[in-house]
Amino acid sequence: MKLGFIADLHLDINEKRKRGDVLDVFLEEIAKQQLEAICIGGDISNDYKETLATIDKIEHDLNIPCYFVAGNHDLWNIHYPGKRTWDIYNDLKANQRNLANGPQQLNDKWVIIGDIGWYDFSFGNYAKYQIQDFMNMKMKGSTWQDKEYTDWATHSVDIHQFFMERFQEQLLRCKNKNIIFCTHVVSHHLFTVPTPHRIWDYFNAFLGSKDYEQLVSNHNVRYALCGHVHFRKKVKVKETEYICSSLGYANQWRYKNTKDEIEHALTVLHLD
Ligand SMILES: [Fe+2]
Repeated sequence: MKLGFIADLHLDINEKRKRGDVLDVFLEEIAKQQLEAICIGGDISNDYKETLATIDKIEHDLNIPCYFVAGNHDLWNIHYPGKRTWDIYNDLKANQRNLANGPQQLNDKWVIIGDIGWYDFSFGNYAKYQIQDFMNMKMKGSTWQDKEYTDWATHSVDIHQFFMERFQEQLLRCKNKNIIFCTHVVSHHLFTVPTPHRIWDYFNAFLGSKDYEQLVSNHNVRYALCGHVHFRKKVKVKETEYICSSLGYANQWRYKNTKDEIEHALTVLHLD
């Protein structure tokens, strides 16, 4: 089976940056590669309704399953002021391909498990900052935008813990399968931005959690997929290949045209 993985399409932001062709080019690439299923690792858009419409369009046009997890941008209420994050999360969960609904069997041997996950500030630089600094989500006039556009009604660490417990239960339940584990947030410290760094000493705190490395190593995870940080990278650690396949914002791209960029960003997994 050929499964494609990509994250951080940011369709609306890229459209504003004159790259309104991202979805069409992505669809062409999926067809060209004859993929049999897709997984999108979050941050499809800043509007959950556009995110849901995108999943429907991919499935309708290509007639293959398109699994996905929410990204922090998909959960933003920037277009729905005051809307609670859990409400947007549940609206996205209404689509059955959202991995928040539980493990999805891909074939006899492979299962895919995932959800957005969250950050617990464990990737922050504690030589320079304290937990209270990270809880402020603001540093030298720069604000981590989740502060403005998400409202979980509880502490980030509690949200992280909620997802951890659910992942633990699901990973254990699927221990006899080969597991693909997909989060939006970063699941390995090698995917954080190298430090010392002027701003990422602080903002790495919002990328994910060290807990995921331990979680992955304790279970039969063959591929750990993520997005969120807009750097592409693949790292093999023991039996697990960690993959970050973000498309990211057009101003971060390395190629001039959308087709080349998507070809480079898309990861194809051959699951036998
Ligand atoms: Fe993103």
